[in-house]
Amino acid sequence: MEFKETTDLEPLVALAKSLDMRIHPLDNVIAAWGAFEHKEFVGGVILRCSNEFYQLDLICVKKEFQSRGIGKKLIELVENEARSRGAKKLYLITRRAVGYYPRFGFRKIPEEKFPECILVCKDCEKKAECSPFFFVKDL
Ligand SMILES: CC(C)(COP(=O)(O)OP(=O)(O)OC[C@H]1O[C@@H](n2cnc3c(N)ncnc32)[C@H](O)[C@@H]1OP(=O)(O)O)[C@@H](O)C(=O)NCCC(=O)NCCS
Repeated sequence: MEFKETTDLEPLVALAKSLDMRIHPLDNVIAAWGAFEHKEFVGGVILRCSNEFYQLDLICVKKEFQSRGIGKKLIELVENEARSRGAKKLYLITRRAVGYYPRFGFRKIPEEKFPECILVCKDCEKKAECSPFFFVKDL
């Protein structure tokens, strides 16, 4: 398995769509990574930043490749990049993987504590039918 920084977000967006994930406009994306098995894109993640608030987003792994530590590695890559840019905190929003992130040190926070400039669901047309959870990790 190879992990690479990438500027091509198309495979990630296609995978996220196939997994029925919400895809918010790709604003403020400052870095992205892909996991590749024999050159096949099998997972990825993006890092957003606005006003020095950092957000992990769009993390996903192809079904057949899940539970092999790819998600963990992608989170590490995002954390390291954010840290190297001086971030003290890393934020994320999730609907479905609420039980996944605490093992990496993320803790749930109320929406009011989430920085508004990276609140991607703010203008989302599906907001009314969505009950997301908000997380932060001290880096
Ligand atoms: C969530 C996801 C990115 C994790 O990636 P991964 O490579 O499978 O994760 P890892 O190998 O690092 O970790 C696997 C562990 O996480 C657990 N896990 C995976 N998805 C989970 C979820 N939605 N909720 C709680 N735990 C979850 C697995 O059960 C496994 O647990 P175990 O180690 O006790 O067996 C991946 O499962 C995925 O793409 N899911 C569908 C899309 C999605 O929900 N993305 C998150 C959007 S916020």
